[in-house]
Amino acid sequence: MIRLPPGGPSAIDLAALPNLGDMGALGTITGASVDPIVFDYTASIRFDWKLYRHDIAGSIGHLRMLAEALPGIMPPEDAGVVEVGLLDVCAEIDGQLHRLVPCGEDIHSHVELRLRQLLETRHPGRGEELGRRLHTARSRNDQVATDLRLWCKDATVELARAALDLQAALLDRARRWPEAPFPGYTHLQPAQPVLFAHHLLAYVEMLQRDLERLQRAHGAADVMPLGSAALAGTTFPIRRDVTARELGFSSISANSMDAVSDRDFAVELTASAALLMAHLSRLAEDLVLWASDEFGLISLSARWAEGSSIMPQKRNPDAAELTRAKAGRVYGHLQALLTAIKGVPMTYGRDLQEDKEALFDAAATARGALRALRVAVSSLELRPERAAERAAAGYATATDLADHLVRAGVPFRTAYEVVKGLVAECSAAGRPLTALSLDQLQSYHPGFGPDALAAVHVAHSVAARDVPGGTAPSRVSQALGDAERRHAACLAAWAARPTL
Ligand code: ARG
Repeated sequence: MIRLPPGGPSAIDLAALPNLGDMGALGTITGASVDPIVFDYTASIRFDWKLYRHDIAGSIGHLRMLAEALPGIMPPEDAGVVEVGLLDVCAEIDGQLHRLVPCGEDIHSHVELRLRQLLETRHPGRGEELGRRLHTARSRNDQVATDLRLWCKDATVELARAALDLQAALLDRARRWPEAPFPGYTHLQPAQPVLFAHHLLAYVEMLQRDLERLQRAHGAADVMPLGSAALAGTTFPIRRDVTARELGFSSISANSMDAVSDRDFAVELTASAALLMAHLSRLAEDLVLWASDEFGLISLSARWAEGSSIMPQKRNPDAAELTRAKAGRVYGHLQALLTAIKGVPMTYGRDLQEDKEALFDAAATARGALRALRVAVSSLELRPERAAERAAAGYATATDLADHLVRAGVPFRTAYEVVKGLVAECSAAGRPLTALSLDQLQSYHPGFGPDALAAVHVAHSVAARDVPGGTAPSRVSQALGDAERRHAACLAAWAARPTL
């Protein structure tokens, strides 16, 4: 399998380039000379440069296959020379992107044209000719589909690793306060006390589903289109299995027409990113609420909260707020992608070039949100006294009193009505349930026994929810251990997938 030397681009926005049509004589790889305005409009190198390592790896895979299957056309010695040239093109772009002078309208053209220039400089009179053989039995249609699939596989690995890092931060905070009570809400009204660790583990489960979706998105991308050529396959006796092995694909596509026009894998990755963003937005919203002065459940760490330009006392949860808003941006990309593919007649249409910016930005946005929230969660400090106080507030243990009556033989609906009346009176008198004596309780219903006095305390309420998936400390402790073991296994599985 192909491994490129480590490297990567320095960040640069090629939008700063002048009108690409002004590249003048360079024109297109096909030699057509379109109007500069149209050339600039249809060119994709401003954004598809991100595929350069995948394009170069894809070309090396194809080249090695050609040398093995078609040695008469691509002798192995020549293939070696071309491979060195491709690695030189890669090194030229790695970390030097700010100096990239595009040779063509897209990254595929750039790599090929630059390869030919470099080979000719090093092997005068022969290099250009060698470079011109590389595109044998290949079209840009199967090439771009392959590059994009390689890119998606890598992006999925990076997203999964970032999701695992956020999970690790949540698990770490759950370990830090394994038995601290916390208010549980429904409708954002005090509902029932829970453990803070139980609440954090809810997010761990959410992210676990995201990891499983990313796993499936990785599988969707893991099929090699090369060999499909433009749409119908190739006249050469190529070895698609060899190329797939070189490029680390698990299988090859079954139908050349589907292979060059299929972008389902890009939709699947973007959809995974969209749902991931929905989850991160919910976590962000909880962080904003918890850190507010009104809730006061966590302290806002200076590591992720920024100041106000006018109000000196302020600290704002900007990173969480941005995450809420950025979810919409990723949903938009999913919508754009679905719309771009829906009307493309079999097989390839240039519409499909429009997949890239949506896909790239969806993945980058989700990764950025995961990384920022990891900082927020890992620096989160619970305010245990305040959390315990709020866990008891709002008659949050009323259900426990009703359950107590049920155990004394009262039908639940009757018990519910008794406790509803009792809570209304306590609330009007401004008294908590813990202030009631047994006599007072029995004046509401004779079914109340001495245990009722304990049932209204938070610790008792939490411990009583001793079902699988419940918030009782023993269950949460078990769940935490299970989640930590699962995390370690996932970490190892994703670490075993090197990226280009
Ligand atoms: N830049 C194009 C894309 O991203 C390249 C694919 C092939 N182009 C073509 N005209 N056949 O889809």
